[in-house]
Amino acid sequence: INGAVLTIPMAIEESSVVAAASNAAKFWSTKGGFTATILGTEKVGQVHFMYCGDSQKLHQFFEQYKTALLASTDEITHNMRSRGGGITALSLVDKSDAITDYYQLDVRFETQDAMGANFINSCLEQLATQLKTLAAKHPDFSEKEKAIEVVMSILSNYVPNCMVEAAVSCPVNVLLPTVEDSKLFAEKFVQAVRIAEVEPFRAVTHNKGIMNGIDAVVMASGNDFRAVAAGIHAHAAASGQYRSLSKAEIKDDVFKFSLRVPLAIGTVGGLTKLHPLVRWCHELMGTPNAQELMQIVAVAGLAQNFAAVKSLVTTGIQQGHMKMHLLNILNQHQATESEKKAAIAHFKDNTVSHHTVADLLAKLRNT
Ligand code: MEV
Repeated sequence: INGAVLTIPMAIEESSVVAAASNAAKFWSTKGGFTATILGTEKVGQVHFMYCGDSQKLHQFFEQYKTALLASTDEITHNMRSRGGGITALSLVDKSDAITDYYQLDVRFETQDAMGANFINSCLEQLATQLKTLAAKHPDFSEKEKAIEVVMSILSNYVPNCMVEAAVSCPVNVLLPTVEDSKLFAEKFVQAVRIAEVEPFRAVTHNKGIMNGIDAVVMASGNDFRAVAAGIHAHAAASGQYRSLSKAEIKDDVFKFSLRVPLAIGTVGGLTKLHPLVRWCHELMGTPNAQELMQIVAVAGLAQNFAAVKSLVTTGIQQGHMKMHLLNILNQHQATESEKKAAIAHFKDNTVSHHTVADLLAKLRNT
């Protein structure tokens, strides 16, 4: 990734995911490797509240007390500010078109190497309390206007400005051993990704393949994979239709495949230093900071997607899956190395199932 060789831990029940990601890593290791770029690191939180009254007066109130609202979080943000983070923006949003009397405090954060959920939620709850206190005392408000009702204060797992891009590219001709196969492969690959851009049924499965890689690394690094998945799927549907997260193109005889995903993850706080295996996983990756971890996770997603689409447009997905399945069944039966060799040869032209593998092993063991 960006010229460095890394070992990436993956925690996942589907063994073929690890095999596929490894295969893609090997493939691209001789073709320039993966690049990854951070496009933004902004986190989002909202105080959702009801204000019954003159909207103009609420805006004036907000402008007058914006500094006081922010100052009320000083104690909470002290440490984060000393690390270069904190609240980066605070605005009042009028949502009364959607729901009568509904407004928001929209808050933007920089949380450095922390995912920041606790930090963000503490700031929001403090802002909500201060908002109510200041409104209750505001001389220009009527009694109804003074009675702001806070519905909830919570971070958003949709982080469109906390984004990372991963990419691979190489001349089309070197993709496969022959120029002819390479061209055909590149074209089919691009078609497959285009289908996932326009066809939601395919897009969901295509993106599931990306999440195979992303979730496995997010989980191994002790981060919240549900938060990551919710935000990524929202991004996939941001155009109004659920679409592929990755893009592929052939331009001037160069094949390019890339992926953009929003990722709010951390390398400090939460479980990252507490859970012994998680700590070990961070060490295995070379103790990345949050931005480096974003890059690693995005690359795992792209690698996984490349391997899946590559096998789909060439051999089909079952060849690799059945190979893994066969090895899993052989291991269940404690097959020896020579039994495994014989079984792999036998199942080149025969159907793998628990019963056919058990039959073959029984035969081998009786001779
Ligand atoms: C299986 O876990 C993931 C795939 O279905 C992804 C895809 O279809 O692109 C192979």
